[in-house]
Amino acid sequence: MTFASKAAIGAFALTMTGLPAFAQDTENGATVFQRQCQNCHNVVDDSGEVLAGRPNMRTGPNLYGVIGRQAGIVDGFRYGDSLVEAGAEAGVVWSEEELVAYLQDPRGYLRETLDDNRARSQMAFQVRSESDAADVAAYLATFGVEEG
Ligand code: HEC
Repeated sequence: MTFASKAAIGAFALTMTGLPAFAQDTENGATVFQRQCQNCHNVVDDSGEVLAGRPNMRTGPNLYGVIGRQAGIVDGFRYGDSLVEAGAEAGVVWSEEELVAYLQDPRGYLRETLDDNRARSQMAFQVRSESDAADVAAYLATFGVEEG
């Protein structure tokens, strides 16, 4: 058997498992969350149970169910105007893809989304590695998955 045909079978097998070729690593995502996010954010479900991070962490908004949620709508959190506008006017609903872009450059993301060079972010943090950003987005997608 030639190398090429083996590779083709390998690719076919991977397709059959239903896994993307570059599966995101939610375990690394959990580590990224602990190292880079939980100084400002936690994940708390509707019953008040802390699923990640520390209780009473309110520097950043609760990230429970963030994937699929409109930007800037956690009750009682004082967002910057630009993020609220991104959700309410530009229609941003966080997908893993949008999140990866936001996490690597929150201010740049808001400027581009709002087409406004004066847009500001109150999240003074950037994830340096795109794969870490993708892993933490996949990790966050495991919380608050819609039922039914
Ligand atoms: C230094 C504190 C800080 C760190 C570290 C931080 N954030 Fe944030 N984050 C914030 C603040 C503050 C906001 C609100 C931004 C605004 O209003 O412009 C925010 C907003 C967000 C939002 C938008 C939420 C919404 O309701 O629309 C997401 C998603 C998010 N952060 C994810 C992350 C992730 C994932 C990490 C780790 C990789 C992280 N943040 C690290 C402070 C932080």
